[in-house]
Amino acid sequence: MKRSSLFNATLLRAVASVALFLSFSSVPVSNAQDALDSTASVETEPSILTRNGQRYACKCYPGEKCYPAGAAWTRFNATVGGNLQLALPPGAPCYNTLGEINTFDQAKCNQVQTNWGDEQWNTDHPTSNLWTYWTNDTCLPFPTSPSSSCTRGYYGDYVVLARTASHIKSTVDFARTHNLRLVIRNTGHDFMGRSTGYGALILNTHSFKTAEFTKRYTGPGGWRGGAVKVGAGIQGRELMRLASQQKPPVVFIGGECPTVGFAGGYIQGGGHGPLATFYGMAADQALAFEVVTASGQIIDVNSQSNSDLFWALKGGGPSTFAAIISVTVKTFPDLPAAAVVLDINSTHTTDLEVFWKGVNAFHTLSNRYVENGLFVYYELFPLRLHVQPFVGPNMTKAQIDAVVKPLLDQLDKEKVPYTSFSKEFPTFFDLYTDIFEDEGSGNSALVGGRLYTRKDIAQRAPQINAAQRLAIEQGAFIIGHIVGPGTGLPKVDNAVHPKWREASSFSITSYAVAGNATLQEKATAQNVVTNVIGKALRDASPNGAAYVNEGDLEEPNWQEAYWGSNYRRLYRLKQVWDPKGLFYARTTPGTEDWDVIDTNTRLCKKL
Ligand SMILES: Cc1cc2nc3c(=O)[nH]c(=O)nc-3n(C[C@H](O)[C@H](O)[C@H](O)COP(=O)(O)OP(=O)(O)OC[C@H]3O[C@@H](n4cnc5c(N)ncnc54)[C@H](O)[C@@H]3O)c2cc1C
Ligand SMILES: *[C@@H]1O[C@H](CO)[C@@H](O)[C@H](O)[C@H]1NC(C)=O
Ligand SMILES: *[C@@H]1O[C@H](CO)[C@@H](O)[C@H](O)[C@H]1NC(C)=O
Ligand SMILES: *[C@@H]1O[C@H](CO)[C@@H](O)[C@H](O)[C@H]1NC(C)=O
Ligand SMILES: *[C@@H]1O[C@H](CO)[C@@H](O)[C@H](O)[C@H]1NC(C)=O
Ligand SMILES: *[C@@H]1O[C@H](CO)[C@@H](O)[C@H](O)[C@H]1NC(C)=O
Repeated sequence: MKRSSLFNATLLRAVASVALFLSFSSVPVSNAQDALDSTASVETEPSILTRNGQRYACKCYPGEKCYPAGAAWTRFNATVGGNLQLALPPGAPCYNTLGEINTFDQAKCNQVQTNWGDEQWNTDHPTSNLWTYWTNDTCLPFPTSPSSSCTRGYYGDYVVLARTASHIKSTVDFARTHNLRLVIRNTGHDFMGRSTGYGALILNTHSFKTAEFTKRYTGPGGWRGGAVKVGAGIQGRELMRLASQQKPPVVFIGGECPTVGFAGGYIQGGGHGPLATFYGMAADQALAFEVVTASGQIIDVNSQSNSDLFWALKGGGPSTFAAIISVTVKTFPDLPAAAVVLDINSTHTTDLEVFWKGVNAFHTLSNRYVENGLFVYYELFPLRLHVQPFVGPNMTKAQIDAVVKPLLDQLDKEKVPYTSFSKEFPTFFDLYTDIFEDEGSGNSALVGGRLYTRKDIAQRAPQINAAQRLAIEQGAFIIGHIVGPGTGLPKVDNAVHPKWREASSFSITSYAVAGNATLQEKATAQNVVTNVIGKALRDASPNGAAYVNEGDLEEPNWQEAYWGSNYRRLYRLKQVWDPKGLFYARTTPGTEDWDVIDTNTRLCKKL
C-alpha cells in the first residue's frame, strides 16, 4: 500500500500527542487475579448482576474477578506491537494525579489548553472526544487547581493505537475473549458519545491513513468508473486533498466537516455531504469493505462475498456489524461548482418577527434547492442565520443565482434585510477549501435532530418553521443541512433509512449542558431535548425520520426513526454477525437487548 506524505505528518503529530502516555507506561496494572489469568482461548464468563428486578450479564470491569490481570494485558500488548496504552483523559496533565498515577505536566497542560478548541488536535489525541458531554466532562483541562480531582469518567481504561489489520484483529479477539467493553474510536467526532465508554478497551484506528485511487474499478458490483480504497482513519479534508491531486482530479461523497472520518461512523451511518444531493449518500457509493468480524476473521465484503454484511455496513449503524479496516468507494471527476453565502443577523435587524420571516422564507424553499441539485449548510442561533454555503455542483454563478433568486425576491418583498454574495469555482475542491469554514470542539451538549421529507416541506413548512423557532427559543441552536441525497437518481438498496431518498432538509439541534451538571440537571436537559424540542420537530414532520449519526439517544422508537422498514433485517443480521454483542454503540441494531446500568457505566445484556 502506498502511504501518502500526509500520513507521515499526521503520524508525527499523533506520536507527539501520545508521548505523554508513554511516560506512564511503567505504572503497574495491579490485579490480584494475575495468578488466575486465563488462556486466550477460553472465553471469560460475564458477571451476573440484578438491578430493579432485571438480571444482567455484564461486561467485565476493573476490580472484578473476570477482568484480565496485568500479565494478560502485557501479553496482549505484545500482540499489538506494543501499541497498548493506559487511556487517560486529555486534561490529565493539568492535574497532580489520576488515582495513583502522577499526571501533572505544566508544558503538556498548556498544550492541551491551547488546543482544546482545535478539532484536528483532538482527533489526533488517543482518547479525546470533540463533544465532551459523553465523557462525563471529567478531568477538563482547566482545573481551579492541579490538586482538584481528575477521574476517568466515561473515558476508557486502555487504548490500542492500532497500526495494522492484525492489531485490529488482536484487539477484537482480546475484547471478545475477556468479555470487555470494546469501543472503536476513529476521530472522536461522535456527537452521541459512541467513541468513548466507561471502563472500555478502546481501539483507535486514527493511523490508518491510506488512500489508493484507481481510474477504473474492476471489482464486483459492475462499476467501471473511478474508485478509492480508504483506510479506516482517513479524515474528510485529507481525503479531499488527495483526491484533488489525482490527474485528473476526482471527488467523492465526503461530509461537510473537514475532520470527520470517512470509513468509520460516517459511512456506516449513511453519510451526507455537499455532493450528496447530486450523487447520493456516502454509503450508496460503497463498493467493498475489508473488516474484522466479531469472531476475529479478516474478510472481504462486497456484492459477491458476504453480501448480507455488505448491505448492512452501508448505513446500518456505526460499530455494529464489524470493525472496518478499509472501504472502497466510487469517485467522480471533479466538476465546476458555485456557491452562495447568506446572512441575516442582529447587524441587519433586531426585530424578531422580521428575522423569523427571513428564516422561514429560506427554509420553506428547501425542496426547490434540492430539486436543483443544491446542498445547503446553515447555522441558526437567536437572531443569527448564517448560510455558508449553498453549493451548486456543476453550476455557474448565474445558474446558482437563478436557483436562489426566489428567496432573495421574497426577502426583498418582505423587507427582510440580509447580506449575500455568490461565487463560482473551477472545481468543487476549490469551492470547498474557499467557502467551508472550520469548526470548533470542546463543547458539552446534548444532540437531537430531524430529517424532513419533501412531502413534509411541501405540505407543512409553516409547522416545521414554527418547530425550529421553538427549538431556538428553548435554548438550542440548529446546524442545518438541506440535502436530498440522490434527488432524481434511481433508488439504491442498502441499510440507509428509505426516507433519506425523499429527504429535503435535515436539522441537528444542539442543546448545551454543563458537563458538571448534576444528574437531575442532566435529566431535565434530556427531557427538553427529547420531549419538548424533539417532540415539536416530530409532530411538525409526520413523514420524517431521524439520522443515527446526528440524533437523540433517547429518540422514541429509535429503530423505526433511524432505519424504518430496514430495521428488522438489520436486527437479524446483527444476530448473525455479532450474536454476543461485541460491538456496541447506543441506538444501533440489537442494542435494545442491552442496558448501560449504574449511571451510564456498566454495559450489560438483559437476561
Ligand atoms: C462537527 C461535525 C460535523 C459533522 N458533519 C457531518 C456531515 O457533514 N455529514 C454526516 O453524515 N455526518 C456528519 N457528522 C456526524 C458524523 O457522521 C458522526 O459523528 C460519525 O459518527 C463520525 O464518525 P468518525 O468515525 O469520524 O467518529 P468517531 O467518533 O471516532 O466514531 C463514531 C462511531 O463510529 C464507530 N467507528 C469508528 N471507526 C470505526 C471502524 N473502523 N469500524 C467500525 N466502527 C467504527 C465508533 O465506534 C463510533 O460508534 C458530523 C459530526 C460533527 C461533530
Ligand atoms: C506496551 O508496550 C510498550 C512497548 O514495550 C510500552 O511502551 C507500553 O507502556 C506498554 N503498555 C502498557 C499499558 O503497559
Ligand atoms: C458522571 O457525572 C455525574 C454527575 O453528573 C456523577 O454523579 C457521576 O458520578 C459521574 N460518573 C462518572 C463515572 O464519572
Ligand atoms: C455538467 O453540466 C454539463 C452541461 O452544462 C453537462 O454536459 C455535464 O454532463 C454535467 N456533468 C455532470 C456530472 O452532471
Ligand atoms: C452578520 O453578517 C455579516 C455578514 O453579512 C457579518 O459581517 C456580521 O459580523 C454578522 N453579525 C453578527 C452579529 O453575527
Ligand atoms: C461547573 O464548571 C464551571 C466551569 O466549566 C464552573 O464555573 C462551575 O463552578 C462548575 N459548577 C460546579 C457545580 O462544579
